[in-house]
Amino acid sequence: MVKGQAEAWRLDEIAHAGPEHLDAGYVAGYDLKAGTDPGPDVALLRDMGLTRDSVLVDIGCGTGRLALAAAPLCRRVVAVDVSAEMLDAVRAGAAALDAPSRPQCVNAGFLTYEHSGEPADFVYSRNALHHLPDFWKAVALRRVAALLVPGGVLRLRDLVFSFAPTEVEDRISAWLDSAADQPVDGWTRQELETHLREEYSTFTWLLEPMLERSGFDILEASYSDSGVYAAYTCARV
Ligand SMILES: C[S@@+](CC[C@H](N)C(=O)[O-])C[C@H]1O[C@@H](n2cnc3c(N)ncnc32)[C@H](O)[C@@H]1O
Repeated sequence: MVKGQAEAWRLDEIAHAGPEHLDAGYVAGYDLKAGTDPGPDVALLRDMGLTRDSVLVDIGCGTGRLALAAAPLCRRVVAVDVSAEMLDAVRAGAAALDAPSRPQCVNAGFLTYEHSGEPADFVYSRNALHHLPDFWKAVALRRVAALLVPGGVLRLRDLVFSFAPTEVEDRISAWLDSAADQPVDGWTRQELETHLREEYSTFTWLLEPMLERSGFDILEASYSDSGVYAAYTCARV
């Protein structure tokens, strides 16, 4: 291969990142729309052993709600996202923290992030893995396993479907009916339809073997009643 020439078979993560995530206007309204409280996941990570000695990497960090909440509690937090606009929001949020407590921002993706320094004790990722088709999810999960210490913890949350193929029509219809009326209040029907059509949410019964084959033990799995969200706590084997 010619030096500097991209390998044409590799996925272009920016092209699959969701154009809205590269739009500064959308990013400015993201926290209000998402209404995410990082508290329960921070508490879970602490229960799993996160301390001031820990290194945590948040991949697909978005505006950095989790990374900013965890950074003062850890030795090092790396906030990784393919969107430079999202990382600008992380930096803006970090301005309120003392300099040593700020997350380090890295503009990269699941498939390109190169971890340096001591291996991570924790990887966190919320609502980002669905930007990759399943083949690339497995590649990404293997890369995540490789940057963790043995026994290190992956906390993974995403839109993942915990129902059978026979339930698709009813479950998706119920999900679309529950959409927000206004974009500022959450994800609208149109946005959920775009998600289904153009992104890569998969089934839990496909993702779970992928996690295991990529080098994780699934310690805990939980599924929303709607069947469209799943959360996993995994340990690197
Ligand atoms: C729905 S947002 C979630 C952000 C944040 N984790 C949260 O829970 O609020 C998805 C994020 O994933 C990022 N993203 C998309 N594809 C990615 C990839 N291949 N690698 C890393 N981040 C990616 C987007 O830029 C966006 O910031």
